[in-house]
Amino acid sequence: MDHFLYNGGKLHAEDVPLSRIAEAVGTPFYCYSTATLTRHFKLFDEALQGMDHLVCYAMKANSNQAVLRTLGALGAGMDVVSGGEYARARAAGIPGDRIVFSGVGKTREEMRMALEGGIRQFNVESEPELERLSAVAASLGLSAPVAIRINPDVDARTHEKIATGRKEDKFGIPISRAHAVYARAASLPGVEAIGIDVHIGSQLTALEPFEQAYGKVADLTRQLRQDGHDIRRLDLGGGLGIPYTRGNQAPPLPSDYGALIRRTLGDLECEIEIEPGRLIAGNAGLLVSEVVYVKQGEGSDFLIIDAAMNDLIRPAMYGAHHDIVPLVEPEPGAPTKPYDIVGPVCESGDTFAKGRELPLLAEGDLLALRSAGAYGAVMASEYNSRPLIPEVLVNGDQFAVIRKRPSYEEMIERDTIPHWL
Ligand code: LLP
Repeated sequence: MDHFLYNGGKLHAEDVPLSRIAEAVGTPFYCYSTATLTRHFKLFDEALQGMDHLVCYAMKANSNQAVLRTLGALGAGMDVVSGGEYARARAAGIPGDRIVFSGVGKTREEMRMALEGGIRQFNVESEPELERLSAVAASLGLSAPVAIRINPDVDARTHEKIATGRKEDKFGIPISRAHAVYARAASLPGVEAIGIDVHIGSQLTALEPFEQAYGKVADLTRQLRQDGHDIRRLDLGGGLGIPYTRGNQAPPLPSDYGALIRRTLGDLECEIEIEPGRLIAGNAGLLVSEVVYVKQGEGSDFLIIDAAMNDLIRPAMYGAHHDIVPLVEPEPGAPTKPYDIVGPVCESGDTFAKGRELPLLAEGDLLALRSAGAYGAVMASEYNSRPLIPEVLVNGDQFAVIRKRPSYEEMIERDTIPHWL
């Protein structure tokens, strides 16, 4: 459930008509709902009630400071994957002991930054990374809490580009190497292996792959304990999918996911961490855009809108579906027609939808691309020299710009001219 509903014929974000925000900030823009972010975070937190746990929001999904502060105030931890994300989390007031550091390519600099600034744990993804972390931490006279990310060789049955738990994927350490790697960690200075980490992919729409992976984690926990390792924390990753299409069968709920965790891992008495991103932010945001032209095509007509692939790349990159709705509620039974909805960027891939049935639309009409709160603004670029679009956060009947639209000058000023030009 989200808080983007028609009220009096107008699509609202909570209590604010989106058309009012469009007047104030211009289009295109991203809009997020505080109530929806809050609700989604709490669903996870409540799903793990009774277990020692921390929900570490995967901030790669949406790392705006206002979003991080909203979640941080609810007690969220953060899953970070770069020095930049670590810095953003800290700037948003998240204490180091609520930050886990994931990612396959952590540099010395990033390790140092997190060790000095404070960190809950490093999710170590390879043997060379373990060696390097040991060296960096030891040189600082510190000890790094570590969870080794294992690759359970489980097919998450999701889009090829976002499956991460099969043996051919670049992530984690093969489970067959786990004994050797934990033994190595125990012999190294500067690292303490306290847990196991797993993340098998994103936009999972069934629980079975989680169940398979978590079953392997449970077995491994017992074996490693027998080897003498004090495994006391399990990081179970993120990945629970969201409904991108209203009316279709919805993916399992956080409560079902929580019950699965309890069933597969509850008896191990470990502290549980999860790293949801998309489910918290995805349906808490949408992208509002204006129709620039309606152009007659050979097949469907084209709706050329002022948002483009540089603003929301998911359709171009993954063939992702986003529901698209007009800001003015269509009358029941109003005629519709199929449109190809495209942006102004000079590539045919700049297509949001093909043959999408919508009520008849005209220049100047406003549309919302739904489910755009996760992996939307964070994946945007300035391709075609289109400045990054603003982000707006709604809270009840208030709204605030949480990232402003840069002017052309601000965009250009970031380039610097060498002395010979
Ligand atoms: N933890 C780790 C280690 C991850 O790599 C990810 C996502 C998550 C947690 C959060 O997964 P979520 O709960 O959001 O599914 N850009 C793609 C999604 C990439 C996901 C990458 N890793 C998209 O737009 O679909």
